[in-house]
Amino acid sequence: MAPVPRLHVNIDHVATVREARGGALPDPIAAATLAELGGARGITVHLREDRRHICNRDVTLLRQTVTTLLNLEMSLSAEIVAFALEIRPDQVCLVPEKREELTTEGGLDVVAEKGRLMDVVPALREAGIEVSLFTDPEEAALDAAADVGADFVELHTGTYANTRDRSGNRTAELDRLMASAEASHQRGLRVNAGHGLDYGNVDPVVQLPHLEELNIGHAIVARSVLVGLERAVREMCETIEAAMGWST
Ligand code: PXP
Repeated sequence: MAPVPRLHVNIDHVATVREARGGALPDPIAAATLAELGGARGITVHLREDRRHICNRDVTLLRQTVTTLLNLEMSLSAEIVAFALEIRPDQVCLVPEKREELTTEGGLDVVAEKGRLMDVVPALREAGIEVSLFTDPEEAALDAAADVGADFVELHTGTYANTRDRSGNRTAELDRLMASAEASHQRGLRVNAGHGLDYGNVDPVVQLPHLEELNIGHAIVARSVLVGLERAVREMCETIEAAMGWST
């Protein structure tokens, strides 16, 4: 049997909730520890240029506390690349970034960015950081990813995840991912996948050939709110009762 792909948990949206009040809670560092206790084999955060959720301090602290593997998603911005070279996460995943987007909308345009990648990828690798490129399942992107010397591609599963019709388009998307995983491997690239995956759609993606890592965020953080809510309310009831001198 093929090895089980490693789950990397993206905890950005823990920081999104924190930023809703601008305080300290919920703490992404504590979330990372709990994710690891739950079985995560890596922690992923996206340090966006606008710092809308994860901030530099989070990454610095995670570098010290994560015991599995720290994967930093980031754009090619010179300022962020310099920060990554200083912090040295275990892995970097280079993504495209637009200020107005709610989440990463597509793979990196590896062909158009080849010039910058020819500088950035070796600099990161020389610092001991594994480099992954978030890539649409397209041959030209895979060729360029191999040319610039990336270690991994992270195949963008968002289109597969968002295709909900029963007309066969979803199967076609899955076939495209399968072919791209195989093509990546043939080009010497290691294979990761992620974006838009949830408890209902992850099954066929797990079967991608040569798949090593899955990056999943929103679905896990969303579920944690629901499965943890009952306990959180009960603990507040107990706190109020205890304050009134009632023993529980
Ligand atoms: N992989 C990449 C490159 C991403 O940008 C994201 C979103 O930050 C994810 C995976 C995780 O996507 P989701 O939150 O939909 O699981």
